[in-house]
This record gives sequence, C-alpha cells and structure tokens, in this order.
Amino acid sequence: MLEVTKNKNIIINRRKLLSCFGWGFIGIFLTTVLGSMIRFFFPRTLFEPPTRYKIGYPFQYTPGVSERFKKQFRIWIVREADKLYVIEAKCTHLGCTPNWLAAEGKFKCPCHGSGFTPDGINIEGPAPRPLERFRVALDEGGQIVVDEGVRYRGERGEWDKTGAFLKV
Ligand code: FES
Repeated sequence: MLEVTKNKNIIINRRKLLSCFGWGFIGIFLTTVLGSMIRFFFPRTLFEPPTRYKIGYPFQYTPGVSERFKKQFRIWIVREADKLYVIEAKCTHLGCTPNWLAAEGKFKCPCHGSGFTPDGINIEGPAPRPLERFRVALDEGGQIVVDEGVRYRGERGEWDKTGAFLKV
C-alpha cells in the first residue's frame, strides 16, 4: 500500500513538472509573439549622415587639397587659382578611401595602388575612371554648400558644368 502511494506521488510530481514546463513554454511563446507585435509598431530607423551640408567659406581654403572634412564627410576640397570643387574620397576601382600624398602631389589608394592627380584624374593602377565630384554652391550667407545628391563625372565631360565648381 505504501509502495502504491509512493508511485502515485512520483507520477503526480512528474505531471506537475511537465505541466510547469508546458506553461513555461507557452508563456515564452506568447511573450515572443507579443514582443514581435509591439516591435512592429516601432520600425528601425537608420540615421545616415546628411547629403547636404556646409563646409565653411571659400576664403578659408588656400590653394591645394584640403583634408578638413575627409573624416567627417569623406571629401576633399580642392582650390585652384580661380575655382574650388569637392571630390569624393572614394576610389573608382572598388571604393576604398585613397590618401592624399602631399609630397608626391597625388591621391593614392591603399587597396590596389590606383593613383589620381590633385584634380582627380586616374593616372595609375586599376581605377577605370576619375574620382567623382559633388555639387557645390554658395548659400545666402556665402558659405559653401555641398550636395552629394548631384555628382559630376570627369570621363563624361561633366566637370565644367554649372554646379561642379565654384568660381573664387
Ligand atoms: S579600390 Fe582603389 S585601387 Fe582598388
């Protein structure tokens, strides 16, 4: 008689245990589903850097290549005797970021060795075309505004277009 009671207790305890597990899994499942539903109403938002931004006044740039905004916007500002333009610091081979080698007077890509003149023309390595330029304009206060939404490609003869450079 004692043996039967003991077995019953074991069976009941097993049932309780399995029941607890069952409810536990149901609880986890429902929490996951509910969490997903709530998350649905709060979509992920990507905060990307602006594509239009100001980079100061023309007088702040002396002739030559400026790396002032290379880290922040991945651009170089190039000032020549009578004009200023903005080059995207992105190699036209596979997109690495070239370095400006002031001593050699050229941009050099560290990935596969492409080289570019200070105005962005490809002169060595596998890069198939010149670096691209962004639209530049002056705002009402005289500051330079760069618009990455408009690009100018040298191999298409677009560098002379209005917006590809500023007269200074
Ligand atoms: S990515 Fe610049 S040379 Fe290949």
